[in-house]
Formats: sequence, structure tokens, C-alpha cells
Amino acid sequence: PASATEPRPGDLAVGGVPLAEVADRFGTPVYVLDEAEVRDRCRTYRNAFPDADVLYAAKAFLCRAVAHWVHEEGLGLDVCSAGELELAVTAGFPPERIVLHGNAKSPHDLRTALRLGVGRIVIDSPSEIARLAAAVGPDGRQKVMVRVVPGISAGGHDKIRTGTDDQKFGMSIADGYAQHAIARILDQPQLRLTGLHCHLGSQITGVKPYLVAVRRTVGLMSRLYEQHGLVLPELDLGGGHGIAYRPGEPALDITALARRVRAELTEACAANGLPVPRLLVEPGRAVVGPAGIALYRVLAVKRTGDHVFVAVDGGMSDNPRPALYGVRYAPRLIGRHSAAAPARVTVVGRHCEAGDVLAADAGLPADTRPGDLLAVPVAGAYHLSMASGYNLVGRPPVVAVREGLARLLVRRESLEDIRGRDVGL
Ligand code: LLP
Repeated sequence: PASATEPRPGDLAVGGVPLAEVADRFGTPVYVLDEAEVRDRCRTYRNAFPDADVLYAAKAFLCRAVAHWVHEEGLGLDVCSAGELELAVTAGFPPERIVLHGNAKSPHDLRTALRLGVGRIVIDSPSEIARLAAAVGPDGRQKVMVRVVPGISAGGHDKIRTGTDDQKFGMSIADGYAQHAIARILDQPQLRLTGLHCHLGSQITGVKPYLVAVRRTVGLMSRLYEQHGLVLPELDLGGGHGIAYRPGEPALDITALARRVRAELTEACAANGLPVPRLLVEPGRAVVGPAGIALYRVLAVKRTGDHVFVAVDGGMSDNPRPALYGVRYAPRLIGRHSAAAPARVTVVGRHCEAGDVLAADAGLPADTRPGDLLAVPVAGAYHLSMASGYNLVGRPPVVAVREGLARLLVRRESLEDIRGRDVGL
């Protein structure tokens, strides 16, 4: 537990723990997760979607504690590798509440999924059908869904749009590809098709694309009914629910989403004479993103031309998002009060390239100096889960805070860890 010292001036406390204290105790860079906030967000989903399955998308961030929290809060899990699957099951996650995704599942992924007994496997391509059926074996029967592409462009960046036909996931509804694959799935006695899946993309801030997705997937369900007499009991609308990274940015309203999707689904099914399928949703970012904070120590301040660079001890190896998607963050000074006026600065990382920018155009006190601590809010999703080993600096630890206590969930990657994998010479 963290020591019960009084917060120092300028301290921002999360989960009852001053962040500066976490930095002192665990070192920097460090990622802090507010357990109550993660749990609250799970509850918001459960309340908004009382009769749907809410699956947490593990790719946003997974460690055993997070798997445990989301399970306790009544969520299922979406995984996309044997690694995510094994870790979750090790944390006590019931495999039947897990869905396996992936556009290129390895034989190991499929074997692990079948061995552990995952609830559903989402078929992403025709190549997978016969391979999965063979892996299931003559006496088995695996529940599967099929990932379809509804032809909808949505999402915060081109790299994370998956609802259109010019990207690698799923099978197109418009050109009949999906329908053809479904006919082949129905021919496999080892596979039991429970429903359609579609994931439009990520960081979507409006409800509309989801409503269009409902209409197009229900349209396909109706054609499947006409063609095969098939009634699919499930519809998975994926995740992608957008959050605000800086004050004033829009976020998707989960309650409005749930209400309008439910209404659209009921109406579309009635219009097509179909029963309303059970809904599944797969939020990742919106569950953990706002609950995470990254803490960095300032190592250098430099003025060149028009720029003030504030360099910290982490960077693109723990947060590649600004470099990949041009995302803007709003870091703030913690650990001391500053009366200095705010200045426009560029917060950069420690890595060996000029693109290693953590926060372009950030506002920090003009007297920000080496030794200061910076907190980057909304750091819980797709930071550490996408962390790399660049420059061998070692991945940061993850610390949970709750009711005034801080506890280590994932330790810092050490030189011994790095050296241990290096077995040549
Ligand atoms: N379901 C499927 C099938 C997915 O592929 C994803 C995310 C999700 C659910 C969860 O989406 P979310 O609710 O977290 O938006 N690295 C990018 C995001 C990539 C998302 C990949 N798939 C980023 O940092 O913005």
C-alpha cells in the first residue's frame, strides 16, 4: 500500500493516491489504472445494455487484474490471440464467455481456443472455414460467428476504419462474398453458426454508423432466411466507441447508442419478419482509456527556433498513438504548484527519431523544468498493449490505484528480461 502522506501542493490524486507518490514509489515512466473507474465504466455498459452481452476488447489493454475486474462486473471478453486468451483464462475468466477474433488466426491460436473451449470463434475469411472444421474434429461442434463488412466508413483515423471493403477484415455484404462464405459454413457439421459480427472501426463518436450497420446486417439476415431458412440468434456490433482525449472533444454517448441501436434493431427485424437477435457489443477503449494515466519525468527542456521541447523519460515505445494516428494529448504538470503562465510546448519522448512526439502543442507552465512530473490523462487504452521494445528501454509498469492504495499489477521490464531473451552470440 502507498504511504498515507499528505498530498503535496500540485498533487493530483487518483483513486485516493497522489500521482506524484506513485511516481516516487514505482519510478517513471509508469502507467496508473483507476480500478473504480474501470469498474464504473463496465457498469455503465451493463446498465445501458441490460439484455446484451458486453464483451471487453482485450486488445485495448489486458493484464490478469483487468480480466478479473471486467469478469466481476459481468462482461465477457473479446480476444484476438492465444496470448490474450491464455492470460485471461489464467486470471479465471470463463472460456465460454470469450470470443476469439483475428483475420489470420494461427494454428496455435485455433488449437488453444478449442482446447480451452472458447464460446465463439469469429470466422474472418473463407480460408478459415475448412481449417477450423478440421481442427474441431469429427465429433466436435464449435459455435462460430462470421465477420461481415457492411460498407460503412467510420472511425477516428484511416488506419482504424474497418467497415469498408478496401481493408483486410471480414467479408463484404455488398458483393455477396459474405453470403457465399456463410453457405460454406452451413455445410460444415462441425461448425454451428450463431450470428453475424461486424466491427466498423474505432474511435467513432456518432451513433449513426451503428444504425446503418444494424440495417445492413439485418438485411443480410433476411436474405439468409429466404435462402436457407436460417434464423441467426445473435448479432455482434463490435466496438469502436469513441472517447475524449482532451477537454472539449466529443465522445460517444453509450446510453444513447444502446437505446437507438435497440430501437433500430427491433424495427429492422419487424420489417423483415425476423425475431430480434441477442445483441453483443465489444468496447475496449471506452472501458479502460479514460481510467489510465501515464506519468513521465521531464529530463530536458530545450528552446530551438519557435519551439520549446520538453523531453520526458518515455515516448513512442510506450505510446505510439501520436506517431501512428496523429492523436493529441493534454499533459499536465503534477507534483508542484507553478504560478508561471502557460506556454505552448512540444512534449517529446526519449527515442531516437524526430517523430517521437507525445504531445504536440501542449500547454504547460513556462517554468517546466527537468525533474518535473507530467501526467498524461486518458492513457489506458492502446498504449501499453501496443508498446514496443524500441531502443531497449524496457516497458513501463502498471499500477492500480483504489481507495487510497496503490498496487503493482505489471512490473517494469528489466534489463534481465531483455537479456534473458537474447540467447545467441
Ligand atoms: N472488436 C473488434 C473486432 C476490434 O477489432 C476492436 C478494435 C474492438 C472490438 C474494440 O474497439 P474499441 O472499442 O477499443 O475502439 N490501436 C488503435 C485502435 C485499434 C482498434 C482495433 N480493434 C488506437 O490506438 O486507436
